[in-house]
Amino acid sequence: MTELSDPLLLIPGPTPLAPEVLAALARPAQSHTGPVVAAATRRIQTGVAAALGADPATTVHVVPGSGTLALESALVNVVAPGDRVVSCIQGYFGQRFAAIAERLGADVVRLEVPWGESVAAQRVAAELAHGPVRAVTVTHVDTSTGVAAPLGAVADAIRGRGALLVVDAVASAGGMAVEMADRGIDVVATSSQKALAMPAGLALVAVGPRARARRAERSGLVTTYLDWQEWAPVMDEPTRYFATPAVNLVVAGAAAVARAEQEGWAQRFERHRRVAVAARAGLAALGLQPAAAAGAELAATLSAVRVPRGVDPQRLRAEVQAAGVVIAGGLGPWAPDTVRLGHMGEVGVAELLRGLAALEAGLAALGARAIDGLGVARLLAAAGTDRAPLP
Ligand SMILES: Cc1ncc(COP(=O)(O)O)c(C=O)c1O
Repeated sequence: MTELSDPLLLIPGPTPLAPEVLAALARPAQSHTGPVVAAATRRIQTGVAAALGADPATTVHVVPGSGTLALESALVNVVAPGDRVVSCIQGYFGQRFAAIAERLGADVVRLEVPWGESVAAQRVAAELAHGPVRAVTVTHVDTSTGVAAPLGAVADAIRGRGALLVVDAVASAGGMAVEMADRGIDVVATSSQKALAMPAGLALVAVGPRARARRAERSGLVTTYLDWQEWAPVMDEPTRYFATPAVNLVVAGAAAVARAEQEGWAQRFERHRRVAVAARAGLAALGLQPAAAAGAELAATLSAVRVPRGVDPQRLRAEVQAAGVVIAGGLGPWAPDTVRLGHMGEVGVAELLRGLAALEAGLAALGARAIDGLGVARLLAAAGTDRAPLP
């Protein structure tokens, strides 16, 4: 698909857009309260709710903005100054979530683990035993490490204790099951540009009934734009007006949902899981091993891998980019020796073939290995599309 490949984005978002999504972006602007945008908004709401496993009492807010805005929306509506918030921090974006809570005046307990590890649910339970907690924040997949948090265990640890469970699913929604209703998650914040494979620019916030009730009972909200109560009438009936939606993005986002629904959400999660296994087999064959701690649950949506000793990740990325493929650098403490590959949304084995071939050529150009094609061979073998025995 040429649309996917100019250049080929194998970064952890924004991700490549399918042809029908690009075509939808090219449609003429529509009235923000007209039937086309209203129908597209509803389509995104029902699609995202299904992707998150939300129940019918949940409202999905679709607001112009990025994932960070979604995180801010998720907290500003429920957290008041002085509230205790427990933040599970597994990397860069967990820190951002905690920092947002701190700016809102919350008394934040940071449950931080070294990069590459997972927060233990028992630590969350222990904090809840110390006194009332308004909210627990969890980053489902921290894109800085590629490690998935033990969402189910954290949800079990706080169930029935009165705290709201607020989850950042920016790097998982659409590619991994979130199980909002089954786990009792109160708010999920995500965005359009990753595994949902929509254009960048939509902040998506799924608000469950307990979170909505908390918003209703509190006063003194410092924001107008992010107030769920301002948006609620529009989200119930998208022909109403509060603030102008991103009309072209909404129409294109609905096209992405239609495509995902054709595949089926469960099938899509399974595809992501298989593609991740294949990607890691190919990467490992090139000497690129996950930087995560042994035993940590790896995300299905991206891989953060260590480069071989002596290889400068920036130079490797430049070599790969020269072959028309964009990969991401490491963040924070992992910047000196890691790179990150997104494998979510529209990215499948065909795209990874190009990515691994470019990586292999790049590593060879930097003198780190000879070209033997093992990366792509292992990728194909693990994907189940090439059953020929490997050397
Ligand atoms: C897990 C996670 N949370 C939050 C964000 C912030 O999203 P945005 O860059 O769209 O503001 C990102 C961005 O990559 C992310 O990966």
